[in-house]
This record gives sequence, C-alpha cells and structure tokens, in this order.
Amino acid sequence: MQKKWRVMRVGGGGGGGRCVAVSVSILIAATLAFLAYVAFFPDDGAGGLSRWWRCQGCAGSAGKFSFDETGVTDGPTAGGAVRAPTTLSNIVFGIGASARTWDQRRGYAELWWRPGQMRGHVWLDEQPVGPWPAATCPPYRVSAEASRFGNRASASRMARIVADSFLAIAAEIANDTASGEGRDEVRWFVMGDDDTVFFPDNLVAVLRKYDHEEMYYVGAPSESVEQDVMHSYGMAFGGGGFAVSRPAAAELAKAINGCLDRYSHFYGSDQRVQACLSELGIPLTREAGFHQVDLRGDAYGMLAAHPVAPLVSLHHLDHVEHISPGARTPLDAVRPLVGASRLDPARSLQQAFCYQRGPGYNWSVSVSWGYTVQVYPWAMAPHELEVPLRTFRTWRSWADGPFVFNTRPLSRDDACAQPAVFFLRRARNETSGGGRATVTEYARRAAKPGAKECDRPSFRAASTVQMIRVFAPKMCPNDWKRAPRRQCCRTKKTRSVLEMRIRYCGRGELTTP
Ligand SMILES: *[C@@H]1O[C@H](CO)[C@@H](O)[C@H](O)[C@H]1NC(C)=O
Ligand SMILES: *[C@@H]1O[C@H](CO)[C@@H](O)[C@H](O)[C@H]1NC(C)=O
Ligand SMILES: *[C@@H]1O[C@H](CO)[C@@H](O)[C@H](O)[C@H]1NC(C)=O
Repeated sequence: MQKKWRVMRVGGGGGGGRCVAVSVSILIAATLAFLAYVAFFPDDGAGGLSRWWRCQGCAGSAGKFSFDETGVTDGPTAGGAVRAPTTLSNIVFGIGASARTWDQRRGYAELWWRPGQMRGHVWLDEQPVGPWPAATCPPYRVSAEASRFGNRASASRMARIVADSFLAIAAEIANDTASGEGRDEVRWFVMGDDDTVFFPDNLVAVLRKYDHEEMYYVGAPSESVEQDVMHSYGMAFGGGGFAVSRPAAAELAKAINGCLDRYSHFYGSDQRVQACLSELGIPLTREAGFHQVDLRGDAYGMLAAHPVAPLVSLHHLDHVEHISPGARTPLDAVRPLVGASRLDPARSLQQAFCYQRGPGYNWSVSVSWGYTVQVYPWAMAPHELEVPLRTFRTWRSWADGPFVFNTRPLSRDDACAQPAVFFLRRARNETSGGGRATVTEYARRAAKPGAKECDRPSFRAASTVQMIRVFAPKMCPNDWKRAPRRQCCRTKKTRSVLEMRIRYCGRGELTTP
C-alpha cells in the first residue's frame, strides 16, 4: 500500500510540473478569448456579458414584479415557450361525498363552487335518490366499487378519487379530441371533503408558485400534534384539501390499486394516498393556508391570527363553535368571511397591526381582514399579536395542546386581560378609486349578560369604540409569489368609530408598539 503510494506520488509529481504549465497556458488563452468576446460583443442587456454571470438553469425573471396580473407569467419554460399562468380552469376538483348525506353537506360546496367556471366532480358512493342540484353543485359521479380493498372500503373509495378524477378527465379529453372540442389543459387535481370550504382564487395563487409539469403534492398536516404523531406529519390531511399536479396524478393512477392492497390497514384515505405518493418518492409540499381545522371548541384564535400565507381552505366547521356570533348554523357563520373574500380574496384573514395612542391610553389593534378585529388596551408587540389566542383544544383528546404553532393563553376570568373583539358586519368595494379598494366594518361583540368590565382608564376609553372601519387596497394575487410580508396600517379615532387604513409597508418600516 505504502509502496504504491510512493510510486504514484513520484510519477504524479513528475507529470505535475508539466500539467501546471499546460494549465496556465490554457488559462491565459481562455482569458484572452473571453476578453476578445467581451470587446466584440459588448453588453446589450440581453445576451451580452451579464449572461456569463447568470445561473444558466434559472428563468432569469427574478427581481421583476408587476402589479399587472396579466403581465406576469410563469416564466419561460425549458423549451423557451411562455406558459400562461395557472387559472381556475386548469384545476379539476374531486370531492368525496356520500349520496345519503349530500343534501346536508352541499351548502359548503355551494359556497365556493362556481358553476360553469370550475371543473370537477362530487364522487358518491351510490346513485343519489332525488334529482341532483346541478345548477349549484359540481356534477356527480359514482365511484367504482372498492370493497375488494378490505377494511374500511369507504377510505379506499375516497383514496381512489385522485385516480378516478384523472381517468375521467383522460376519457373526457379523448372524447373532446374526437369531437374536435378544445378545453383548457388540466394542470392540477384538487381533492376535498364534502365539508371543505375552498377559497378558489387563493388556491390558484398557491398553485401558481409551482411548476405543474413536475410531480407535486401540496397541502398541510393537522393543527393538532397528536394527530400528526398518530397519522403523519408528512401527509396532507384530506379535509383541508390537497393538490396533486397532473404528472403526479398520472403516476398515482397507475399505482393506486397496488397501494390500496398494501395499505388497507391505514385508517384514512388521505394516509393511503400519502403512502402511495411516498412509494413514488413524492414528499408533501406544505402550504400554511390549507386548514384541516383539527380543533375543538372555538377556532377563533387561529382565524384571528392566520400566518402570512393565502387562506386556501377551512374544514370541520360543523365540529367547532360557530365562527361568527349570532349565526344559526355553522354554514351561516362562515358566510360573512366568504362574502368578504370575494371582494379581495388574497387579503382574507391577513393580519395587520397598528397602535392608537391617546390621553391615558395605548391600544394595540389587530385586524384579521374579512373576519375580526381585536383591540388590546395595552401595548403588545407584533411577535405576540401574531400568535393565536388559545380559544380551542386539540382534536382527539381535547387538550390544551400542543399544536403545530405557538398559542397564547386566554384568561377567561380576568376582564383586564382580554381584548375587545369585533366581528365583520359589512364589506363593500370602495366606490371611489375604481373598485381597487375595500371597506370592511366590524361591530363590537355584545358583552355576555352580567360580564364584568375592566375598570382601568385604557379599557374605559376602549369601551367607547363601537365600530371599526377598515380601508384596504385590494391585494394582487401575484403578491403571493413574492416574499411574504405583513402589511402596515394607521388608525384614527372619531368618537365611537376607529378607522384603520391598511397599506403596503415602506422598505424598512417598523411596526413598533
Ligand atoms: C362524448 O361527448 C359527447 C358530446 O360532446 C357526449 O354526448 C358523450 O356523453 C361523451 N362521452 C363521454 C364518454 O364522455
Ligand atoms: C404608552 O406607550 C408609550 C410608549 O411605549 C409610553 O411612553 C406611555 O407611557 C404609555 N402610556 C400609557 C398611558 O400607558
Ligand atoms: C367590486 O369590484 C370589483 C372590481 O374590482 C368587481 O368585479 C366586483 O363585482 C365588485 N363587487 C361588488 C359587490 O360590487
């Protein structure tokens, strides 16, 4: 061994001197050639010098941003063709449902489904008895029999929906081609439950970030750590919805039957799908706006402190307290938020913080746009305001945590430790300014009868505010392609109304209590 080493070193050393000389000459020649190139082809902005320094694999559009939505594309593809940005018509939905309960659940789909503008199916376990509400709901299909997959055939049936959707669309495309009809290309398959509420424009904003020609699996795990430990952190919980890009759906469609045989012991359909995607080596791409809402009690704290990410879905609204006070049904309780989201989808539940100071008081104001405003009659920093108040418990054991995000305790007995809470009352376009801004109004939540009020001056001053009026510019959906940043705001108090004006922050602007 040692001997061989020495021999090699001697040989290598001998050749080494020559090698260095040759390398140096090549280097000098290359430098001269490069300088000559630069001299003869000066930088013309597109193909000149700068191209030498740019990563050859990149799209090269980095740093540019346009407020004009139509002006932004997904960038040049490998082939050089420019792809149109993903829109709703590139998405096919697959909703897992049961014929017998559809009438009770269909209100959720009707909230977000846009007949004629969206594609997809409700996948039923059997033929519906009555006439199908085709004017307001997605068309239905009856899933193929799945009982051969052993345990919990319904989970297998649901797990097959991605594959069934893919095959249904493939058949449609073959038929369209035969009949000479053309439809928009399918890029994504999006799954949801019959009680999932999607925010479709934000779903599009999220999917636009990813190259649909690659294999993607996009969604989010559960909020309750116990659920993720029991099932998986690496899985998109199905009720929150998840998206599979077309190439991934194509592979899944081929593999799914084998996977269902292998993973029939898993509890849920979502876990069976994840197990199959894992065989393909496709990991979950997490997006914070998909919400399984594996919570008990009042989801308020989470909805009032949403991460800086587009709100894509809500689920389990039948299992938590009504999210707006005074609503008769869980469905009615989510209507105001959905209504506001139609005016400015990208801003839904986005927080902004401002501080109002006056004689003897300091307030911290947090808006969760389209839903609620909280006024804390003391100074509270953004890093606290962005943490959800723990108004809820975990899904399985009804415990105080842990959750996959931080929470802060709510002192229900101490009136001096609670914010004043306002809920959305009205939302409209700001008529001046060409519909590019919105006005949302939030009314103070009625105090519980006999509830004690805090007697400190700052609280007494806050109790005079009955209404919060929020002015906000409409966000561009392409804002979500940029680095996420919370927006800034300013307040003005006029008697019983507190006005908030939300705006894009300045470059280094601080929000300091
Ligand atoms: C094919 O298209 C025709 C008309 O467009 C329609 O009547 C027929 O049901 C379609 N067949 C399938 C299998 O989708
Ligand atoms: C309000 O906050 C400012 C700055 O933090 C502080 O100087 C002032 O004393 C506070 N006023 C009250 C009434 O708490
Ligand atoms: C609000 O303005 C937008 C244009 O930005 C318009 O498309 C929409 O129909 C308006 N909505 C209402 C309820 O007036």
